[in-house]
Amino acid sequence: MKTIFITMIAFATSLPLYAKDEDASAKFLSMCASCHVATSSVKLAPPIYAVKDHVIKAYPDRQDFIEQVVEWVEEPSRDISLMPGAINKFGLMPKLGFAKEDVRQIAGYIYDEELLPSQEYKKHYKKNHQPR
Ligand code: HEC
Repeated sequence: MKTIFITMIAFATSLPLYAKDEDASAKFLSMCASCHVATSSVKLAPPIYAVKDHVIKAYPDRQDFIEQVVEWVEEPSRDISLMPGAINKFGLMPKLGFAKEDVRQIAGYIYDEELLPSQEYKKHYKKNHQPR
């Protein structure tokens, strides 16, 4: 009886968790990836790997990371920017008016997901971010 109960709980809790990840990934693709693409001939914004790399260095804790991204998307501004070079290159990210809850979910997804740098970004990073 006890085993059945535990199995049921595990099943009940694992399903929504999986669905949530899929959901976050879909939201990221529709709300952020149009600009934050890793490889594209049209360059609208830094690739999401680069964004994560900068934000996570300043905010290594998951909760702090999420708060920074939520605050940023709510009101992009030079004052809280961690990528001033990107603003100079692409212009300030527009205010998009997304629901905070969606952005919170997406931010957690970006933090958890293992994102890989493109070859192009590795070269850029070496050229521009190496200590002199
Ligand atoms: C219309 C294009 C566009 C969309 C859509 C977009 N961004 Fe951006 N984003 C930019 C640009 C351009 C920059 C680089 C310039 C800057 O930092 O303002 C940027 C920078 C950022 C940064 C780094 C900010 C900094 O300077 O510290 C974060 C974090 C970010 N975006 C998160 C997101 C998230 C999360 C989404 C989806 C909810 C998203 N963006 C959707 C264009 C976009």
